[in-house]
Amino acid sequence: MKILNIGSLNVDYVYKVDKFLLPGETKSSLSLNKYCGGKGLNQSIAAAKAGNEVCHAAVLGVGGEMLKEALDKNGVDTGMIQESADTCGHAIIQVDEKGQNCILLYGGTNRALTKEFIDNALDSFGNNGLVLLQNETNLVGYIIERAAEKGLMVALNAAPANDDVLGYPIDKLTWLIVNEVEGKQIAGCESDDDIIDTLRAKYPNCKILLTLGSRGACCYDGSKLYTIGCHKVDVVDTTAAGDTFTGYFLYGVLNGYSMEECLRMATTASAVCVGRNGASDSVPLKSEIDDIIKNNKYGRLEVAVKDM
Ligand code: RIB
Repeated sequence: MKILNIGSLNVDYVYKVDKFLLPGETKSSLSLNKYCGGKGLNQSIAAAKAGNEVCHAAVLGVGGEMLKEALDKNGVDTGMIQESADTCGHAIIQVDEKGQNCILLYGGTNRALTKEFIDNALDSFGNNGLVLLQNETNLVGYIIERAAEKGLMVALNAAPANDDVLGYPIDKLTWLIVNEVEGKQIAGCESDDDIIDTLRAKYPNCKILLTLGSRGACCYDGSKLYTIGCHKVDVVDTTAAGDTFTGYFLYGVLNGYSMEECLRMATTASAVCVGRNGASDSVPLKSEIDDIIKNNKYGRLEVAVKDM
């Protein structure tokens, strides 16, 4: 089943640092690299590398030519990308010696979507498939409404979470995808342990994928809760690990894999991703994931299943 990702495109400027900058501090970085990123682009490339058919719809600003090239190179349909004379979105990313990141976004043309553009994208996509969104574009609530009206499945990765998310028609989503920070903010709870139960009570029609970084992930599919741990691997750069997880997980869901298999594939793919530098460049191919799982290269992770 096809994915239409109405998603962000960013040029990532990645600065390696020993430690993140503190307020008022000035220091030199250890290196600078420029990568193709944006949660939207990373997720499109992850789903496409997994093997899904993906169309990416976006407004692409000046300076972002390499982003369309990367999508094309990875087999993503870019026919719905509209070029603009305004400035492209970008991200300033610090990556510390532990591979953790902190990200400053400039929205640029990611925030230039119009209702007309969205209506056209949804009309061209047809009535069968899944619309994928992240919270880096404007008009997210409008897209959810329109896509749900057309009977399309909708998955929102509510990252980065902000107050706008609470105004979106979340109950119309098929999948809400969050990490623990976003999950607590949307649920309005204090503890990671309460996220799934609170979100289920608030949005009873929604399936939920909660990623927990090095602690693994869990997913509620409407009747059962599945929990998986994480492979212990050397971490170079965690950028796009969540996006890789999302792309592979959705590929599994849309292509008849069991929830256990979806979680195992996604967990393995993000374990490979964190061992590489950059965003979309660090997303592995499906053949690598199949090889790792088939030959037990990272060890086997069990998935705990509980009736809800
Ligand atoms: O999830 C990682 C992404 O977040 C980066 O590629 C950056 O562009 C920001 O969107």
